[in-house]
Amino acid sequence: MRQTLVIANWKLNGNTALLKTMAEHFHHVDIQEQVDVVICPPAVYLKTAAVLFEPTGIKLGGQNCSEHGSGAFTGEISAEMLSDIGCSYVIIGHSERRAIFAESNEMIAGKIKQAQKGKLCPVLCVGETLAEREANDVESVIREQLETALVDADFDNLVIAYEPVWAIGTGKTATPEQAQEVHKMIRDWVAKKAPESAQKIQILYGGSVKADNASTLFHQADIDGGLIGGASLDTEQFDAICKAAK
Ligand code: G3H
Repeated sequence: MRQTLVIANWKLNGNTALLKTMAEHFHHVDIQEQVDVVICPPAVYLKTAAVLFEPTGIKLGGQNCSEHGSGAFTGEISAEMLSDIGCSYVIIGHSERRAIFAESNEMIAGKIKQAQKGKLCPVLCVGETLAEREANDVESVIREQLETALVDADFDNLVIAYEPVWAIGTGKTATPEQAQEVHKMIRDWVAKKAPESAQKIQILYGGSVKADNASTLFHQADIDGGLIGGASLDTEQFDAICKAAK
């Protein structure tokens, strides 16, 4: 019922050569019928990516945007600018931005507003640390992240990605059951806030998704695809993950 969505987050990796290899590959492999694919390279490559990926049907996204619309904010990129160069999505509140760049839930709320105003679909990342999981705080942490980031948000133009921090880039994946439990909790939360959106909203899993664990994860009832880091830099592996999402 819900279209599966696979998003590649290249983080601070990749180059023009990788964009060309990936675009050439997906030009010949038709994956778009049952799965939506989005690539989020570093911002400097987005314009080139827009040209290279145009024939593939793969969409583009930014990895971040400013909580401001315009003005004296050196180094920032606005949601409207991302939209202007051909992006449809933007990742917001990734745990690396929260932890390394001190993004607060309030800043993240501002970014969600800017993204939706700028006609982008925000991909809000939420997830607990290992310490929070061990303290049985998963539900309260995620609830707080959702509550603060999604004040006045449009739930019909939103993707939520559950990324347990302890599973990101570590090779430790949440079990399908652990992930499903949190995804269901997120969907139930959405049902309370926006009942009509709950069955429509795509909730992605992220954290050490690979070709060999993608299918089981993606076939859980409330998992609608994945946000892929490391494995999205390898064309064959990423292709296998997209096919697992069919
Ligand atoms: O945005 C992607 C996530 O941080 C997952 O990264 O697949 O390298 O664990 P990973």
